[in-house]
Amino acid sequence: MKSVTLSTLRELKARGEKFSCLTCYDATFAHVMSQAGIETILIGDSLGMVVQGQSSTLPVSVTDMAYHTAAVARGNPGNAFIIADMPFMSYARIEDALSNAKVLMQAGAHIVKLEGGVWLRDTVVQLARGGIPACVHMGLTPQSVNVFGGYKVQGRGDAADTLLAEAIELDKAGAALFVLECVPAALGKHISESVTAPVIGIGAGPHCDGQVLVMHDMLGLHTGKPARFVKNFLDESDDGIAGAFKAFVSAVKAGSYPAPEHCFE
Ligand code: KIV
Repeated sequence: MKSVTLSTLRELKARGEKFSCLTCYDATFAHVMSQAGIETILIGDSLGMVVQGQSSTLPVSVTDMAYHTAAVARGNPGNAFIIADMPFMSYARIEDALSNAKVLMQAGAHIVKLEGGVWLRDTVVQLARGGIPACVHMGLTPQSVNVFGGYKVQGRGDAADTLLAEAIELDKAGAALFVLECVPAALGKHISESVTAPVIGIGAGPHCDGQVLVMHDMLGLHTGKPARFVKNFLDESDDGIAGAFKAFVSAVKAGSYPAPEHCFE
């Protein structure tokens, strides 16, 4: 696989070819994922839960994210595109966003991901001016779990129009990528078709340009009840973990994942 860049992802979107993304937190898994053809790797702040044993993503620090980003970047043989999460409150002020994003880019990220909505517009512009592309995570943004009162589907009813309008505004401001989490499949389709930047969905239906899952979830490693959108790909693998990653890539490209039972209305 050639090195995947933002241009690759834009070309895939233009051709209507879906792409895959998995979370990853260390060098070995990064190597196996990129060999399996996973185009984009996310060092998610979900590492707070699946690696550190925290009950949410809130305790994760920039130092934690930089440590795991550097490990993933060392393991990636150079072909997968690396997305690193900006942790809770590390981008609430633009000057913090710039200095913390610099740390993650210097650790090996190709883009940083921030959770929020249109309030991030100036941050997206300033990051791009500094040479840092921004991925905006919208819908269910886990860092705001205390505002939402739980991990709940977003964008239902009137909230759909707001989410769509904010995504369009952020796209115009130069957001290079979106992650859209836990929204009705129809809204996932509408947003993906309305923005120029590629949209990676998680519980956002089959029409997003790419699909992401937390690696532990797709390998069937849960401490609680898995979310509706989770599918265990290790179950159908004939080649262990590498086979599960390849099965995920194939299912995303074929459009067989996510199936209706993984989607919200
Ligand atoms: O932190 C993470 O793993 C994420 C995914 C759920 C998209 O942001």
